[in-house]
Amino acid sequence: MASLPSGKKRPWLFETFPALEERVPWTSIVEVPTPVQLLEGLSAHLGSEVWIKRDDKTSPTYGGNKPRKLEFLLGEALSRGYKTLVTGGGIGTNHGLATAVFGRTLGFHVVLGLFGQPVTAHVRKSLLLYHAYGAEIFYMSNLLSALWRFYVSERIRRRDAYFIPGGGSCPVGALGYVDAGLELAMQVERKEIPLPKVIYLPVGSGGTLAGLVIGLRLAGLKPRVVGVQVAPRMFASPKVALKLARNTLKLMRRHDRSVPELALTPKDMSMDSAYYGSGYGQPTDGGRRAVALMAKTEDIDLDLTYTGKTLSGLLHQARSTGEKGPILFLNTFNSVDLSPMADRVRPGQLPEEFHRFFEGKLVE
Ligand SMILES: Cc1ncc(COP(=O)(O)O)c(C=O)c1O
Repeated sequence: MASLPSGKKRPWLFETFPALEERVPWTSIVEVPTPVQLLEGLSAHLGSEVWIKRDDKTSPTYGGNKPRKLEFLLGEALSRGYKTLVTGGGIGTNHGLATAVFGRTLGFHVVLGLFGQPVTAHVRKSLLLYHAYGAEIFYMSNLLSALWRFYVSERIRRRDAYFIPGGGSCPVGALGYVDAGLELAMQVERKEIPLPKVIYLPVGSGGTLAGLVIGLRLAGLKPRVVGVQVAPRMFASPKVALKLARNTLKLMRRHDRSVPELALTPKDMSMDSAYYGSGYGQPTDGGRRAVALMAKTEDIDLDLTYTGKTLSGLLHQARSTGEKGPILFLNTFNSVDLSPMADRVRPGQLPEEFHRFFEGKLVE
C-alpha cells in the first residue's frame, strides 16, 4: 500500500498493474507495510538468522492475515451493493471474527456459521467477540453439515447475501496476499530485510500461501516458501493451493493482460504436514514449546492452532538441516488485545446452542 498525496492509500497491486485499479473493487482496511524485524533473541537461541514479518499488526483494530483479504472481499461486496455477509469456520475462527469486526464498521450485517473444534481459552473469547461485534451466529455440528449449509441451504435461504468461503480463500481474497508479496519484495528492495532463503507460514485454507507466492514471483523473487499444514488436507494441500493460485492469476489476467502468465507448479506450493498433530485446533507439544520460546525470547504472542505449529516447523527444520538463514517467519496471528470487548459479553447472551462451550475443562 502506498500513501497518496491525499492521504488515501492504494495497494501495491494497483501501483504495479494500474489497469487493475479500475476493475478490481477494493476498500481500505489495513495499515501497511507491516514491519519486518530481525528476531535477535530467537536467532541467538537457534543459531540461525530468523526474521519476522509482523502481519499480526495489519490493522490497529484487528490484525492478522485476514484483514488483507477482506480489503478485496468487502470491496467487492460493497461495490455490488450487498448488505449481508455470510461466512464461517470453526467456533474459534479468526476469519469469522475479522469479518465481524470490519463488516460491522462498513455497515454490513454479518452471519457466521460455526462448527466444532477443541475448546481453548481463545475459542471461548472468540465466541464472545462475535457477539460483541454484532454478528449473528449459528451452529453447524460438523464439517459435513457446515459444507451443506454453506454451499446449499444458506444460499437458498439468503439469496441476497455475499458469501465468503472459509478463511477468505478464494481468488478475490487471495489478492490481499498477492499484495503482501509485492509489499515484501519492496521491503527487500529497500534493504529493510535481506532476501529470505526460506519463508514459513501456516496453511489453513491456502489463500495466504497462494497469494504470497504469486506476489513474490510477480516481483521476480523466488525464495523457497514453505506452508505448514494446520488444517485438514481437504483444505490445506499443495493441490488446493495451486488451483487457488492459478485461479487468482487468471482473475488478475482477465482484468489486465499485462499481468504475466506465471508457470506455477505444485513445487511452488510446497507444504510440510509433519507439524499438524492430531487435527485442526488440536495443540501439539512442538507448537506449545514454540509459542513459549517466542514469548520468552521476543515477547511476541503466537497461537496454538496456526502460528505455534508453523514456528515449530521452522525451528525443527533449521535445527535438522543446519539452515543458517535468513529465514522469514510470517506472523499471521492478530496481536491486538480485544479482551475489553469480550469482557462486555456474558456467555448467556449467546444463542443457547453455544452455552455448552463454556462448561467443562479447557484444552490447553
Ligand atoms: C492466525 C491464522 N494464521 C493462518 C491462517 C491460515 O491462512 P489461510 O487460510 O490463508 O491458509 C489463519 C486462518 O485460517 C489464521 O487465522
